[in-house]
Amino acid sequence: MTALAGRSGASRSGGPLLLAVESSCDETAVALVEGGRRIHSNVVASQTALHAATGGIVPEVAARAHLRWIVPVLDEALAGAGVTVPDVDAVAVTYGPGLAGSLLVGINFAKTLAFVHDKPLVGVNHLEGHLYAAWLLDPGEAERAEPEFPLVALIVSGGHTFLVEMRHHLTYRLLGQTVDDAAGEAFDKVGRLLGLPYPGGPAIQRASESAVRHDAVFPRAWLGDTYDFSFSGLKTAARRVVDEARTEAGADGELPDATTAELAWGFQDAVVDVLATKTIRAATEVGARTIVLGGGVAANAALRARIAGEAEARGFLLDVPRPGLCTDNGAMIGAAGARRFAAGDRAGLDLDARPSLPLATR
Ligand code: KG4
Ligand code: ZN
Repeated sequence: MTALAGRSGASRSGGPLLLAVESSCDETAVALVEGGRRIHSNVVASQTALHAATGGIVPEVAARAHLRWIVPVLDEALAGAGVTVPDVDAVAVTYGPGLAGSLLVGINFAKTLAFVHDKPLVGVNHLEGHLYAAWLLDPGEAERAEPEFPLVALIVSGGHTFLVEMRHHLTYRLLGQTVDDAAGEAFDKVGRLLGLPYPGGPAIQRASESAVRHDAVFPRAWLGDTYDFSFSGLKTAARRVVDEARTEAGADGELPDATTAELAWGFQDAVVDVLATKTIRAATEVGARTIVLGGGVAANAALRARIAGEAEARGFLLDVPRPGLCTDNGAMIGAAGARRFAAGDRAGLDLDARPSLPLATR
């Protein structure tokens, strides 16, 4: 293998070097990851500004933007790592779940690179990527222990919310999942109700941080003692509360900033409470050593703080990627892809998009 002396400053210590491509939703991303852990470069072109105008993703617009950005993103990732495509050991790409048109851009791009440079191709489940983000190390970061099994992982993104138990690599037992909206979807919809910018998750977090009063109470759907989640009732309750607040606000219906902040806090508190309570209960019940968080909503500061506090109090180890590795990126695909590559998984040039690909089923 080639020694690296790229701008990342990282030298190669071991394990295959993967070029990983992610385009399942609205981030065009390419990363160079070594041994499933060490990031050499991780470039993400976000379409957030593009979708802000429509308040959500228009699939056709997202696919076109991936086409526009994927080559410059690859170039920047290669330059950042100081390598060329012939230096890599395999090409990994997300093949689902996600938007079909968006997935196809990354898949065809990865296939072309693998074919032209005669490299193995590895298909990666996007959700497995979110989970394996917990194994990643940034370029200059000191070595740290890998997450220890058995573990319970809470994956919370814009399209998915579920809890799995993991006793070995690449093997999952589904403990529970959302029966309606994903947590991120609820953040996005309530953000829009509150008149906050897209995407709603980070905007609600920011707004809630300026709340002075912390007494807005939104309903929690506990669904008995299951590990399933439901956020549609919460969304309906939020609509009613926001409507009432707008009526109270007077003629223009413009919410005072203080009210927006309090409602954002109350909504976020309800989501965090349910996610954290079920995660801790699941970890206790399955005798987990470690709790892993992943997916865009795991970037949420309140969720991270709440689970960190409870995990410490109960003696669980906790692995939460930094916020930029919780939201969609290529490095996480390199982390999961390396495990799949080591296990002998190879995709053919007939690899197709699987928009509804599950990670685990009951
Ligand atoms: O994992 P991700 O980047 O894309 C999907 O695979 O869906 O997750 C995006 C979701 C969005 O719903 C976004 O609002 C939410 O993650 N999100 C957050 C935060 N940052 C992103 N939700 C709450 N707090 C945040 N700080
Ligand atoms: Zn994602």
